[in-house]
Amino acid sequence: MDFKSVAGKVAIVTGASRGIGEAIARVYGENGMKVVCAARSAEQGERVAEEIRRKGGEAVFVQTDCSDTTQIKRLIDRAVETYGKLDGVVSNAGIGQGGNPLHEYETKDYDNIFALNSKGVFAGMKYGAEAIFQSHSAGGFLINVASVAGILPQRGQALYVATKHGVVGMTKAAALDYAPHGITVNAICPGYTRTSIFGDAPEQALEYFAKDCPAGRMGQPEECAYLALFLASDLARYITGAAIPVDGALSAGSKNVSTWKHPEILE
Ligand SMILES: NC(=O)c1ccc[n+]([C@@H]2O[C@H](COP(=O)([O-])OP(=O)(O)OC[C@H]3O[C@@H](n4cnc5c(N)ncnc54)[C@H](O)[C@@H]3O)[C@@H](O)[C@H]2O)c1
Repeated sequence: MDFKSVAGKVAIVTGASRGIGEAIARVYGENGMKVVCAARSAEQGERVAEEIRRKGGEAVFVQTDCSDTTQIKRLIDRAVETYGKLDGVVSNAGIGQGGNPLHEYETKDYDNIFALNSKGVFAGMKYGAEAIFQSHSAGGFLINVASVAGILPQRGQALYVATKHGVVGMTKAAALDYAPHGITVNAICPGYTRTSIFGDAPEQALEYFAKDCPAGRMGQPEECAYLALFLASDLARYITGAAIPVDGALSAGSKNVSTWKHPEILE
């Protein structure tokens, strides 16, 4: 039993053109999985698939707007047509929003963020589960990239928090549905991770996030990808219904004053 068990598994990764999704697609490709990369940007998505192939892996890109459930169904069908089966779906595509009190959001903001972060994830799970069953996969898995905001609400993020709490709830409910049938369902909950989701946030803001995290730094996208690899492997078949933080203890509790009697242990 080792990570070689992932070799040959067919997995879809949404939002694979950059950030956490790109890192997951690459790590899957490097470990012998057949990767179907989905994103809206053909140029960036093709680049990721091409680089996986150049390193000897197997990957295709399927241009997909993951806020459109019809396009997600087509994505799942394309994966099965291309590789003859489906073992897993990583629903990672998601957007952030805001930094405003709830009343300052518009109802169209609600529709936009729920279309991708919630309905898109539901469609990935629904059509993904159907295809995984039809493939008679021996190690099927659904992984949703939620957030620490799916565990611990954050000020200014009412809509984002609502979508991510929903993803964590949907993950746990589906895990109960599929546990008797051998498909694992888990959520990865990243903390502050250095990706383009922060847009053009100034370096000062990123420094704030690093300081706010008990680990004293932001995470790298690969740190989520290694968990996604483990969850896709046969080492993790008894892990299902979990929402696992990758967050440097950000969601573990609040930072309080603590005095070390023996700081010399760090020397
Ligand atoms: N970076 C963080 O600090 C952080 C923290 C917690 C959770 N997350 C979650 O991780 C996931 C990935 O975020 P990231 O940080 O890599 O962001 P990112 O902006 O770097 O990448 C997002 C990816 O999603 C894709 N995408 C966006 N809208 C799409 C759509 N409509 N259809 C298809 N693809 C679409 C983008 O093309 C891109 O590939 C998201 O669900 C996000 O909520 C990120």
